Amino acid sequence: MNAKQIAADYAVESVKDGMTVGIGTGSTSAFAIEALGRKVQQGLFIKAVASSIRSEEAATNVGIKLIPFSEVETIDIYIDGADEVDKDLHLIKGGGGALLREKILAFNSKEFLVIVDSSKLVEHLGKFLLPVEIIPFAMELTLKQLQKLGCTTKVRQDGKEPYITDNSNLIIDCDFKRIEQVDQIHQSINAIPGVVENGLFTKNIVSKIIVGYESGEVKVIEK
Ligand code: 5RP
Repeated sequence: MNAKQIAADYAVESVKDGMTVGIGTGSTSAFAIEALGRKVQQGLFIKAVASSIRSEEAATNVGIKLIPFSEVETIDIYIDGADEVDKDLHLIKGGGGALLREKILAFNSKEFLVIVDSSKLVEHLGKFLLPVEIIPFAMELTLKQLQKLGCTTKVRQDGKEPYITDNSNLIIDCDFKRIEQVDQIHQSINAIPGVVENGLFTKNIVSKIIVGYESGEVKVIEK
């Protein structure tokens, strides 16, 4: 069995009739979208708001009713993957370039369920490069400020061109090697003018980590 699908299917069981659901981005979230789509086809009524244009399209294709951010009143549950989860339940997200909308959804949700396979569980964050979304016109200055925090920086590419986010910004992948002071790095990055948001999701916005295993088992890690 696919461990990502096991986690996604388990999380989707928490979605109830009438809820507004935040929909994530990435290969694990794709399983959640499929599972939600099956439930909707069986009669579940939900409204959903998606963290990326590609997840919007995937959700529409399986019959999920989407609303724009401007119409969201409350988000009951947000289900999304992660690139790394540390022992304190801090996350790195943004491997798929959708971290800004993802953080807005996580911050505004009553419950944020993180769905992963066990390969995402790490002792310390930082092996996965930390994505930071920045405004394009001040890129050079913003890169210098990021480097002052102790990382090397790479402008994410899409073929030969810079990768452009759904919000018309750039993604900088930052190599800190190991991130121990998660709150401090999070705050320092976001204090740089030109940075829109970074991919550190601190434990205060996480509700549960749902870990799927190929055996079909699920482990739920709560704060
Ligand atoms: C997208 C994300 C994803 O949740 C993260 O990259 C995990 O992806 P996958 O489920 O494909 O392993 O943050 O911006």
